[in-house]
Amino acid sequence: MVKICCLGAGYVGGPTMAVIAYKCPAIEVVVVDISIVRINAWNSEQLPIYEPGLDDVVKNCRGRNLFFSTDIEKHVGEADIIFVSVNTPTKTRGLGAGKAADLTYWESAARMIADVSKSDKIVVEKSTVPVKTAEAIEKILMHNSKGINFQILSNPEFLAEGTAIQDLFAPDRVLIGGRQTTAGLKAVKALKDVYAHWVPEDRIITTNLWSAELSKLAANAFLAQRISSVNAMSALCEATGADVYEVSYAVGKDSRIGPKFLNASVGFGGSCFQKDILNLVYICECNGLTEVANYWKQVIKINDYQKSRFVNRVVSSMFNTVSGKKIAVLGFAFKKDTGDTRETPAIDICKGLLGDKGQISIYDPQVTEDQIQRDLAMNKFDWDHPLHLQPMSPSGVKQVSVVWDAYEATRDAHGVCILTEWDEFKTLDYKRIYDDMQKPAFVFDGRNVVDADKLREIGFIVYSIGKPL
Ligand code: NAD
Ligand code: UGA
Repeated sequence: MVKICCLGAGYVGGPTMAVIAYKCPAIEVVVVDISIVRINAWNSEQLPIYEPGLDDVVKNCRGRNLFFSTDIEKHVGEADIIFVSVNTPTKTRGLGAGKAADLTYWESAARMIADVSKSDKIVVEKSTVPVKTAEAIEKILMHNSKGINFQILSNPEFLAEGTAIQDLFAPDRVLIGGRQTTAGLKAVKALKDVYAHWVPEDRIITTNLWSAELSKLAANAFLAQRISSVNAMSALCEATGADVYEVSYAVGKDSRIGPKFLNASVGFGGSCFQKDILNLVYICECNGLTEVANYWKQVIKINDYQKSRFVNRVVSSMFNTVSGKKIAVLGFAFKKDTGDTRETPAIDICKGLLGDKGQISIYDPQVTEDQIQRDLAMNKFDWDHPLHLQPMSPSGVKQVSVVWDAYEATRDAHGVCILTEWDEFKTLDYKRIYDDMQKPAFVFDGRNVVDADKLREIGFIVYSIGKPL
């Protein structure tokens, strides 16, 4: 029986390994983590991640061939294939701070693997890493290997949160990069055999190590670039009277461009797009490719511009100040169908409104008050470190409240900002909301989810992204 161990029971490690266990009953999969709390949650009824379909997959194989454990060394020692799916955040200090990937977690995982291994291993990079990371990992493993053979593979993950199970069940492609040597190709084949249990062979792409590592950064950069492109158009639409929905529909009909990922929004969020582009920019700079670095930097600049443009619009429409006004924020997660708030645009929007002394009342169906307060108290890129003071106005009055109902959030509010496209926001009783709000009642739809004309009939003043007033 092949034994797999995965280091890192996060958004990627947990669902990915659960699906491997589900699809390959003859393989034993153990997911380990340094966080006891996370492992306990994976072993409980309340999984640490909200992801449609995940509960069923986990319940189907947990205790059969899927296990979650904190006994890292034991399971690493016993495994044939070790996936490393630890976090690779942006460095917050030192060389490359604010851009380069922080590989501390990866390096300590590699050192531990070298220490405890007693048999040959295939070590798989599942985390998103800078190009040439495999070379560094190889050095760490080989220099401590005591004659053990380690083969490093790059097998980046392309799942998106909210659709992780669907993406893992039917991936567009699985990418495996390895050394082009006999041992390297044998390792690639071993990993390919795992995926071949359910992924058609023509969807399993094999490449050299550096192509696989770079393809992941490139894919995220291309995806984020599409969003920044449509968001840049949304600003032009607002200035000219064009409708961004109509423009992106017309553009996406070109089969060379395609219709997906062209929704204008308040800006992209999530743990990876910004981090991975910054990482790409840093690699370009290190290679002396200033123009290429500047090209990709612009994707982030437009994203930041879109968020600040939204805040400016809210404040300027509400007579140039939101000081002392209650603003309801509907949605805090970075997209629908997840409770993840990492780099969510809602953080920057809320901070912008707080900066103008607004009183914000937040409702999100999947994000806890504790998480929101923590996010609003944190510095950029600090989400891996604990630091949690509740933001207070100078008078000591709470400026942020978190409630468990959209109607509670909007009661007595002057304005409503929709920041996540949760389906339930489409079907709220907006007449009831309007009746309970201060007048004039504003709606700022950062996701274009409401029917603006219907809301205007009720009496709202509605601002949608990239649409005429
Ligand atoms: P995460 O923070 O949710 O999970 C990482 C886990 O690794 C944490 O639970 C942490 O405690 C654990 N960990 C850290 N060091 C460890 C060690 N030495 N041993 C064992 N466990 C350790 O992160 P994530 O969202 O799952 O992302 C992981 C990687 O996958 C990142 O590189 C990310 O860029 C990439 N990725 C993420 C997504 C996504 O949708 N979140 C998609 C594709 C790729
Ligand atoms: C993204 C990629 O889609 C995955 O392929 C990749 O594996 C992952 O990053 C990663 O490396 O972490 P994810 O961030 O989970 O997945 O979610 P997306 O669906 O890509 O959305 C990212 C952000 O872009 C969200 O804030 C979303 O609301 C926004 N978005 C997306 C738009 O504003 N417009 C769109 O048309 C699409």
